[in-house]
Amino acid sequence: MLEIRDLEKTFARGTVNEHTALDGIDLTLPDGDFVTILGSNGAGKSTLFNAITGAFWPDRGAIRLDGENITYQPEHVRARKIGILFQDPMKGTAPDMTVAENLALAYTHGRRFPLARALQKKDADFLRDRLAAFHMGLEDRMKMKVGLLSGGQRQAMTLLMATVAEPRLLLLDEHTAALDPATAEKVLDITVRTVRERRLTTLMITHNMQSALALGNRTLMMERGKIILDLAGEERDRLRVEDLLRMYSGRQGRQLDNDRMLLGK
Ligand SMILES: Nc1ncnc2c1ncn2[C@@H]1O[C@H](COP(=O)(O)OP(=O)(O)OP(=O)(O)O)[C@@H](O)[C@H]1O
Ligand SMILES: [Mg+2]
Repeated sequence: MLEIRDLEKTFARGTVNEHTALDGIDLTLPDGDFVTILGSNGAGKSTLFNAITGAFWPDRGAIRLDGENITYQPEHVRARKIGILFQDPMKGTAPDMTVAENLALAYTHGRRFPLARALQKKDADFLRDRLAAFHMGLEDRMKMKVGLLSGGQRQAMTLLMATVAEPRLLLLDEHTAALDPATAEKVLDITVRTVRERRLTTLMITHNMQSALALGNRTLMMERGKIILDLAGEERDRLRVEDLLRMYSGRQGRQLDNDRMLLGK
């Protein structure tokens, strides 16, 4: 379970650029929740993820994961419990290492023995099976350098790397946004299957309102560092994109400002 209490972060405090990116975030995520996050540009969505992964420390508030206070825990310690994928397929993998070597690093992460570059045969077979299930031709490219893979193949592989060591939390920051539509759909499909099969507690930022409402069991809307809508259950089931836009402008007194969201790309 993820518990966030009164989380606050102001960048460049005391300067003309002062900006409160997180303004009192409260969020409780029971195990197995799959939450989609929408919001205008600069709403604080990625900043929320950065606070959770430990890229910076918040000014106030607390983050607990399974009861443990991780608010000020070093980033590399949290990395064992939290998997994250970004929009950029180049992030999260080592391009000069092979698929097998990258997977070996992720797979042995957090275990007691020293980092093993080579996988035991049974582990290699297990990972090859998982790659094969993605239907992206990755199982035949175990010895290929990751830098040579397509963006979609890299995201699928990064997803496997992020989830293979049983994370307590999976964070997806527009991880399909840089892919062409067909590949994005494929990677999203793999994501949904992985989350479901492994019952991963997941937060997914997306600019696609349709998939935000269709995927997972709960949808948050962020605006100016706050969570302004938190939708689940029947209310969410009934909601269409138009309703969401109406709710947004009703509350904010203006239209939503996110080009990609509105263009539905
Ligand atoms: N390290 C930083 N230093 C200064 N300002 C920052 C920093 N990180 C984020 N910000 C600011 O905080 C605000 C929130 O940014 P954030 O990246 O969280 O937005 P977002 O909701 O992810 O938007 P987008 O949809 O464009 O990705 C923005 O105004 C951004 O410029
Ligand atoms: Mg962002």
